[in-house]
Amino acid sequence: MKTGIFHALVLIAFALCSFNVNAEIKLHGKHAQMHMQCDTCHGDTRPREVPDEQVCLNCHGSREDVKKLTSKLNPNPHYGHSDSQPCNDCHKQHEPSVLTCDQCHKFGYKTP
Ligand code: HEC
Ligand code: HEC
Ligand code: HEC
Ligand code: HEC
Repeated sequence: MKTGIFHALVLIAFALCSFNVNAEIKLHGKHAQMHMQCDTCHGDTRPREVPDEQVCLNCHGSREDVKKLTSKLNPNPHYGHSDSQPCNDCHKQHEPSVLTCDQCHKFGYKTP
């Protein structure tokens, strides 16, 4: 009996912990402003895994479209040495974004 209750408590505590972990995960910028839901990208209301980049492209179009968005910038941050750099190398969804180009260059673009 007692171990049964103990196991139940452990399970509840575990459930609360994992709930809290997700509760601290937030979005920023426009995705936050539009109240985007977790499952929109993760396909799951209790996300655990990094979503496939295809979810970004479903809304933002092809890589070619993304490149055009910033074509006025020289150099274009969407046109580096590789045509397939993952979006979330730079655009972090749950932490401040970074500009990986600046590991070697100093372009200084602010990454949303
Ligand atoms: C459900 C559609 C949708 C999905 C999925 C989505 N976005 Fe967006 N995103 C938008 C819209 C709409 C905007 C606001 C208009 C714009 O800037 O294009 C936006 C804005 C952005 C911005 C500009 C942010 C800002 O605050 O100025 C970036 C960068 C971005 N998205 C990257 C991504 C990446 C990377 C992914 C995949 C992890 C992604 N988006 C997934 C719809 C989406
Ligand atoms: C715009 C798409 C998008 C939305 C909406 C989104 N996420 Fe994410 N999430 C990502 C991406 C991309 C990553 C990979 C890390 C990064 O780029 O920030 C990630 C990583 C995570 C991870 C870590 C997975 C791992 O193994 O590292 C968790 C947990 C998570 N998200 C939870 C959430 C929760 C909770 C919400 C709702 C509040 C949410 N996400 C909404 C795109 C999204
Ligand atoms: C090397 C870093 C880097 C990578 C990788 C990257 N971006 Fe960006 N992105 C930027 C920077 C920097 C800006 C802001 C440029 C500026 O100053 O306007 C930006 C801006 C954007 C914007 C907003 C454009 C606008 O309308 O102002 C969107 C949307 C976006 N990126 C989507 C994506 C998507 C989708 C991918 C993956 C296919 C991606 N980005 C990959 C650095 C990156
Ligand atoms: C690991 C270091 C490194 C990173 C990260 C890096 N670069 Fe470079 N880049 C270099 C070096 C070294 C050169 C000069 C040698 C050459 O021309 O290939 C260069 C040259 C360039 C040039 C001028 C020469 C050319 O290829 O036309 C551009 C434009 C450029 N980088 C853009 C970018 C952009 C945009 C990013 C981010 C998406 C980026 N780089 C990320 C190391 C890097």
